[in-house]
Amino acid sequence: MNKVQAKDRVAKLKDLINDYRFHYHVLDESIMDDAAADSLKHELAQLESEFPDLVTADSPTQRVAGGVLPGFKKVEHKRRMLSLSDVFGDEEVAAWISRMQKSAPGDRLAYFADIKMDGLACALIYEDGLLIRGVTRGDGFVGEDVTANIRTIDSIPLALRQQTKYPLLLKGVSEIRGEIVMYKRDFEQLNIERQKQGQPPFANPRNTAAGTIRQLDPNLVADRPLHFRAYDLLRLNTEDVPTNDYVYKALPDLGFSVNKAATVLHSLEEIMEFVRLWQDNRKELEFNTDGIVIKINDRRLFDQLGVAGKAPRAAIAFKYAAEQSTTKVKDIFVSIGRTGNATPVAVLEPVLIAGSVVQMATLHNESEVQRKDIRIGDTVIVHKAGDIIPEIVQSLPSLRKGKERLFKMPAYCPVCGTKLVKQKAEDAAWRCPNPSCPSRTWKQIQHFASKEALDIEGLGEKTVIALLDAGLIKDTADIYKLTPDMLVRLERFAGISANKLYSAIQAKKHPPINRFIYGLGIRHIGVQTAIDLTKKFKSLESLINAKIDELASVEGIGEIVAEAIVEYFSEPRNQHLLAKFKSLGVGPEPAKMTGGELEGKNLVVTGTLNSMNREDAADKIRALGGRFQTSVAKDTDYLVIGNAPGTGKITKARQLGTQIIDESTLLSLLD
Ligand code: IVH
Repeated sequence: MNKVQAKDRVAKLKDLINDYRFHYHVLDESIMDDAAADSLKHELAQLESEFPDLVTADSPTQRVAGGVLPGFKKVEHKRRMLSLSDVFGDEEVAAWISRMQKSAPGDRLAYFADIKMDGLACALIYEDGLLIRGVTRGDGFVGEDVTANIRTIDSIPLALRQQTKYPLLLKGVSEIRGEIVMYKRDFEQLNIERQKQGQPPFANPRNTAAGTIRQLDPNLVADRPLHFRAYDLLRLNTEDVPTNDYVYKALPDLGFSVNKAATVLHSLEEIMEFVRLWQDNRKELEFNTDGIVIKINDRRLFDQLGVAGKAPRAAIAFKYAAEQSTTKVKDIFVSIGRTGNATPVAVLEPVLIAGSVVQMATLHNESEVQRKDIRIGDTVIVHKAGDIIPEIVQSLPSLRKGKERLFKMPAYCPVCGTKLVKQKAEDAAWRCPNPSCPSRTWKQIQHFASKEALDIEGLGEKTVIALLDAGLIKDTADIYKLTPDMLVRLERFAGISANKLYSAIQAKKHPPINRFIYGLGIRHIGVQTAIDLTKKFKSLESLINAKIDELASVEGIGEIVAEAIVEYFSEPRNQHLLAKFKSLGVGPEPAKMTGGELEGKNLVVTGTLNSMNREDAADKIRALGGRFQTSVAKDTDYLVIGNAPGTGKITKARQLGTQIIDESTLLSLLD
């Protein structure tokens, strides 16, 4: 990027970040996920370090926080409330440590690490042991007097606890700083109650806590479950508190809750071990966290090292991999799925999200691309949670340069050249109607072998392509004709893996019928529908012979699905495939399904659960005879609310009067 280009980009980034910050800090609302904004800030900071003369006083990298809202008295902080510089990996921690060591040559430095809580910072002023004021961070220099509100928080002592170990701290002014947080479970409960009362749910615990503290009515604050966790103690005479370790020992004695995890560490290795430990364990914490705070333990040295910008040199925040980031759309191509659906897919500039590199994201269909206004060349926010397929959350049109291109759905299949069609005019998706389209064949075979279907180990995407390319198979049934001799001829197979794949395929000649039905890849037939069909029809023959109204009478199956099933079995091509399976001695095992505790019950889960992932939850529900649905419908019995639930599902459940339950209730149902 040359300077002219950089200048333009910097200006646009600044505007967007400022916009975000205004909403976030001043209005207590968020126009994008924090991680996405972080990613923009990171880009801006990088550009500014590359072109230092582009740094201006109004840059978000040079500024602390937004303005103070009217309504609360402004209070100047006796000592500035600083931020922390973010670091993202081992190397950045190592670089910080070596800077620290240079500043104190010869000494073996001690560090102090704590979990970074995701709430709002608050300073509490105690005079001769009595709480006289609570002040928000504000812009770091001036905060808001929220004393009346914070007094309602039970974990804030109205007077310091009298004790004999730290008598000095009870005299004069002691300023305790810490974080006001809302616990995840309280947040979920609060939202469940709001649903019941017909109020819209809150977005996340941090915004809810911040919004609550900004309420002008302390009664309302008292009703909200907020907690204060301390992390700092300031005295006029800095000698009173020699180390951070000392602070964390004194705070509980004075009546404050601190994180028990906080500890003194002595090396990069110990620090990284702490970071890794909490990377996994943080899910179990009561509050949200996105990182670890690491600071020099010795407070005199801490102060000596001073401040760079808005952060102390002697402390950093290690940030865990975000689940959102920004990147650019390099191209959009159309992928043809196994049922012929033509799906636009965005090719992204590779970006690390939640620990893995993301370079593609599905755009679902043409109207989705239009609705989100995603153009080739756009900067976009990409989201990825756990195993979930990455998705583009939104584009950022204000960063456009004018050279971005609109995506246009092609008229012909990019793989076989057949004209794309829409089954019905109102359908969202275009389809390639050619059943022998190579892309469809390949994906169909892969689907048949996939985990949820026949679960044939070793028959993944690349192997299927290799087999098709070598002309060894032409359809799904052909896999049963493969012999170790044939497989060994393929470049990727040595003797052992050829034998292994052969046995894996042969072991699946009589799969459970529901898996076989699902594996056929009939349009609209998911794992659950295949189970429902199995319960009703028991054998493949009776399913093949079923009439539309018989099919439509099965719970959970509508007209469209019923039609798709009849259509599938009436196509000569599919009839031929089924005959071929039969002649090769391949056929499903008839059903042996028994009733369970959840027989006849339909459940939907929204958000993530603490005790298991979605797939496990689905398996457990199904094992007890229940149905795991993906969206709330009239026949849904329970909507289970996990962390960060989707508001659409909750609204729908409320409209339909569906019972809304939390994770612990689900666990008792499953027990
Ligand atoms: S120590 C110089 N410890 O993170 C500030 N801060 O980005 C030293 N925070 O404004 C703060 N948990 O509100 C510290 N265990 C913790 C923290 C913590 C959350 C917040 C704090 C601060 C922000 C800095």
